[in-house]
Amino acid sequence: MANLEIHQFPCLSDNFGVLIHDPGHNLTASIDAPDAKAVSAALAEKGWALTHILTTHHHADHTGGNLALKGASKCAITGPRGEAGKIPGIDASVSGGDTFAFGDHEVHVLDTPGHTAGHITYVMPSAGVAFVGDTLFALGCGRVIEGDAQMMWQSLGKLMALPKETAVYCGHEYTQANARFALTIEPENAALQKRAREVDQLRAAGKATLPTTIGLELETNPFLRPHVAAIQQRLGMQGQPEWKIFGEIRERKNRS
Ligand SMILES: [Fe+2]
Repeated sequence: MANLEIHQFPCLSDNFGVLIHDPGHNLTASIDAPDAKAVSAALAEKGWALTHILTTHHHADHTGGNLALKGASKCAITGPRGEAGKIPGIDASVSGGDTFAFGDHEVHVLDTPGHTAGHITYVMPSAGVAFVGDTLFALGCGRVIEGDAQMMWQSLGKLMALPKETAVYCGHEYTQANARFALTIEPENAALQKRAREVDQLRAAGKATLPTTIGLELETNPFLRPHVAAIQQRLGMQGQPEWKIFGEIRERKNRS
């Protein structure tokens, strides 16, 4: 099986662009399209021709480049069925349980609503990667804008069930601010303390903190840890349902 090459690059103010390339079939997909110029520049740098855009959700900082890129490349745009009407230039809509081929690789679609009502995640098990958009961030998660806490918690649960070594590509570089907040929720977590120091070093050097992994997030991301007794105690929510504790952490982050 051909390798999947992945190129991540910063764009707009704090978004990430991601290109995936199957050299055997000469296919290249942009995961979301925050900005046509930045995606085009990344394609030129790699010498890859755009064949697909895989959209996670309708927000403009994930779809703003769709039409210009499609006009320039004739690429096919795949996006979430639940918000297909809001995805510029969409050709094919998919939802949870759907699978499709990207060259030698199979792409599995998960419904991960909450940030938006139709948000989807693309998982490529053979490459060990997941493209989660604005559902999960390193040490954080997306704002719950079109859903509720219970819905978002269920979506995160699907990601938490992926193999721990899965590389997770997210829509934004929010990790340093997320680390500050995470330490207010679980200050005694040694793995989190260590990671916060590493994140500071990476950012000071101008480097990206992503991709992350499911395993690392399970150990350090407070949004995925409402079962932890110390967190429940700090929030005064001992024994309450995990989704409610998650919701309280999300509320505190919104206010932070
Ligand atoms: Fe978003």
